[in-house]
Amino acid sequence: GGAHAPVRHDSAVGHLTGRALYIDDLPVVPGTLHAALVLSPHPHARISRIDLARALASPGVVAAIVANDIPGKNDIGPIRPDEPLLPREVVEYEGQPVVAVAADTLDNAREAAKLVAIDYEILPAVLSLSEAVARELYVSPVQTMKRGDVDAELARAPHRLSGEFACGGQDHFYLEGQVALAVPGEGTDMAVYSSTQHPTEVQHGVAHLLGLPFNMVTVEVRRMGGGFGGKESQATLIAGIAAVLARKAGRPVKLRLPRDDDMRATGKRHPFLFRYDIGFDGDGRILGLDLMLAANGGNVADHTPAVVTRALCHADNCYWLPSLRFTGLPCKTNTVSNTAFRGYGGPQGMFAIETILDIVARHLGLPLEELRRRNFYGIGRNDVTPYSMKVEDNILTHVTDELEQSVDLAGWREEISAFNRTSPVIKKGLATLPIKFGISFNRPALNQAGALVSVYTDGSVTLNHGGTEMGQGLFIKVAQVVAEAFQVDLENIRVSATTTGKVPNTSPTAASCGSDLNGMAALNAAQEIKGRMTDIAAKHFDVPPNDILFAANRIYAGNRSVSFSELALLCWDQRVSLSATGYYRTPKINWDPKTNTGRPFYYFVYGAAASEVAIDTLTGEMRVLRAELLQDCGKSLNPALDLGQIEGAFVQGMGWLTTEELWWDESGRLKTHGPSTYKIPGSRDVPPRFNVRLLSDAPNKEATVFRSKAVGEPPLMLAISVWLAVRDAIASLADYKLSPVLDAPTTPERILSAIDDILSRA
Ligand code: MTE
Ligand code: MOS
Repeated sequence: GGAHAPVRHDSAVGHLTGRALYIDDLPVVPGTLHAALVLSPHPHARISRIDLARALASPGVVAAIVANDIPGKNDIGPIRPDEPLLPREVVEYEGQPVVAVAADTLDNAREAAKLVAIDYEILPAVLSLSEAVARELYVSPVQTMKRGDVDAELARAPHRLSGEFACGGQDHFYLEGQVALAVPGEGTDMAVYSSTQHPTEVQHGVAHLLGLPFNMVTVEVRRMGGGFGGKESQATLIAGIAAVLARKAGRPVKLRLPRDDDMRATGKRHPFLFRYDIGFDGDGRILGLDLMLAANGGNVADHTPAVVTRALCHADNCYWLPSLRFTGLPCKTNTVSNTAFRGYGGPQGMFAIETILDIVARHLGLPLEELRRRNFYGIGRNDVTPYSMKVEDNILTHVTDELEQSVDLAGWREEISAFNRTSPVIKKGLATLPIKFGISFNRPALNQAGALVSVYTDGSVTLNHGGTEMGQGLFIKVAQVVAEAFQVDLENIRVSATTTGKVPNTSPTAASCGSDLNGMAALNAAQEIKGRMTDIAAKHFDVPPNDILFAANRIYAGNRSVSFSELALLCWDQRVSLSATGYYRTPKINWDPKTNTGRPFYYFVYGAAASEVAIDTLTGEMRVLRAELLQDCGKSLNPALDLGQIEGAFVQGMGWLTTEELWWDESGRLKTHGPSTYKIPGSRDVPPRFNVRLLSDAPNKEATVFRSKAVGEPPLMLAISVWLAVRDAIASLADYKLSPVLDAPTTPERILSAIDDILSRA
């Protein structure tokens, strides 16, 4: 059960049997109120009147709040102070919470919410990303990344192509919706149970809203039923409303959104619009790339500036670009503010360059794999990224060769072409994808973590750290690290809920570095205690500390030994502390946001995939038939959990690029706000042939926790192979010579129209 053991998730049985407790399952004290929201029906409007009288007179209602009821500062913006909890004068998206009501039962709260009367004066709304681009409407400053004289290189290039394409957003569709329970305590104390990836940000948000110092607010989360980035900043909206209502009512308040409200009121993955101008030579070597990456940020900044930065940092994917200009536009529209989502702009950046290379490959009649290889980062040459970081751990050729050989790519491609020659209606497509994904938060300050480890006198251990559990298996991974340090059974380690009261000033559990950061902080704490225990054991056996060995739940000095619990009791008897805090900060990193240069990432994660799809050229339906993945996890901390992360990430990425379409009507109303209209992948969408392998013998070159690598986000991008395979299937209709005109997600409508278009040009 130590490091590298494929042990199951600590809550696996609890998840399956329903015994794992989520916030809505927690027993509440008598008098706890339930809240409901009133959402704006307009994407942009001035609030001219709010009448709460009928709602307040409705059965069971105890309190209602509007912007003016916020005792402190009405702002929950995570990066820029531009985001009111409740709007004072103007609503900026359809679905924006305007009023919240608390009543004795959830039904009474929802009934009362319907009785709130609000008059609006409708204002003109910007609903499309292309309009925001044209009018230069932004939520934060434009960002650029440059190298060389791209205009001159483009003018000189023997070949030049330009165009435009787009990818859609994505709802997080966590199984547990957004929820918080705020419990007022003595004086101004406020305890908040929040389904959040970022307890410290919820703590700060609630403190600001209530006008309190941070130490008066304690935020706790045992687990989330999925977060996927959607509970990084968005959780503060829910917890903040619950806390302000709880303050006003003087009673605990729980706010849990119904799915439809959750989808309308909270942010998603950013849709992007891309415009490119690329120059290359006859061999396919890229000479210059001018790329616009426009993100639909929605109504406020939220995480958009940082998501755009990460898109710019991944628009190179695996390729060395001698000259380039990346322009990142954080666009403002009257739609719900978009936020973090697994990959955090990285998927969109990679989507852009991979689509462009697909177009170049077809233009030159070169296999895409060959074109990519000619542009791969080199080792010792051509190894500097657009943001000036040297790629020092490049294993691209190794990873892509290993995948292509293990799946017999050439034979597989021949099989597909043979099928397509004789199949008039169903067409198959095949595509591969390499990835290189940077690990660490771009902002250096976030790359730190704390832990608190306590050994009790019976030898049992309690572990606390700043990371949160959302299903990814962080808790068990960090417990494995501590078990390894003490050489005790994993069952000895209890991971308790994450709380700002035990480990302060934490970073969000995000950017895939939860186990990198918290694993190291916990190891640091465990080693501190182990050092003290070693001294006591050395004294006890009268040997030098170097002769003390921790192994198999015992502590040895030659052939004499005591059990871990006996030694713990001995330490207490000798008045030696058995509790320690641990701390870690990632080395080697730096970042200059003014020039978008530095070494933002401690290391890179690599991977490769090949996917096969079939499309029905008459209906536009699509299926993924086979996916083969090879993922670099370093020396995996837990290969069983990593396998699950890779499978889940890939399928989630498939959903983003194929079926998950967010659709707003011409009045700016989101019409896909539930599972009947918004199609996430189900069990039968998982490819029938689906093989995932972890790259073997690949310890991290950097000194991460037991040489492991992060896994949470990178494999999502392997699903871009599915997108390229759909394009390949459509291109087969024009003898693979033309590039389809297609945007993501590849819904049947889009596939059909791309087929019409390519047939008309063939
Ligand atoms: N896996 C599950 N089951 N549920 C989740 O919500 N979130 C993903 C990924 N894997 C998520 C998940 C995202 S967006 C991130 S950043 C990482 O987990 C965060 O956890 P880690 O840093 O511990 O990998
Ligand atoms: Mo993950 S999008 O970094 O929470």
